[in-house]
Amino acid sequence: MATMKQLTRKVEVARRHGAGSVSKALTLRALRFPLWLVYRPEKWHLRGFHTTNYKKMAVALAHEVPAPLNVVVDVGCGLGEILNRVDAPRRIGLDVEPGVISWARLLQRFTRSDVEFRAGSFESLTPADPEVIDLVIALGWFHYMADEWIEDRMRTLLATRRVRYVMVDEFPAQAGRIEGIFDDFGEPVRRCHDWQDGKTLFLYRCDG
Ligand SMILES: C[S@@+](CC[C@H](N)C(=O)[O-])C[C@H]1O[C@@H](n2cnc3c(N)ncnc32)[C@H](O)[C@@H]1O
Repeated sequence: MATMKQLTRKVEVARRHGAGSVSKALTLRALRFPLWLVYRPEKWHLRGFHTTNYKKMAVALAHEVPAPLNVVVDVGCGLGEILNRVDAPRRIGLDVEPGVISWARLLQRFTRSDVEFRAGSFESLTPADPEVIDLVIALGWFHYMADEWIEDRMRTLLATRRVRYVMVDEFPAQAGRIEGIFDDFGEPVRRCHDWQDGKTLFLYRCDG
């Protein structure tokens, strides 16, 4: 019964994304699978852009940031599926998993993206990095970090750089939590509901 329900849901999701998106996602998954066997990160990374609604929303939301969008930093960038699609002259992708970063760099050879992928988290931004960051993206991992950890990293980041906008997400099981934290760091300018995973994406203006 549960399997039938899951299958029906998968068909419904596939329908909403469209046949073109589904075939792109399946092709990329097949091409990535051997690399996943090499790097062995979370299986989550095989979940493709073309059939993941919040990733599409994140790219669209990034392009809503008022110009200029010169510098974008994605913390917890994974394979860079979102960052690679954000149009900005300087893009820095940080991820705490070195294997994921190696995989992202390997994929880059095929996509010719110029994203600067680095292993690490907020701490690995150095004084040599831009002082003004137009957008910081942190999606899909704040839900398992403690409030204090997030607050501490955000306080340090905002004290050392001028960050114009921040994009974060919140899962329905933690409704109000991320929003409660970020309301202290900026002004919410956009909030979008993701029909697929049920989460909410927030865009905060932090330099106002
Ligand atoms: C679910 S994936 C999401 C990847 C990407 N943000 C996306 O939405 O496509 C979460 C990523 O966050 C990374 N991560 C977890 N904790 C982190 C931390 N403290 N600093 C930086 N990255 C972290 C994980 O290694 C993983 O690649």
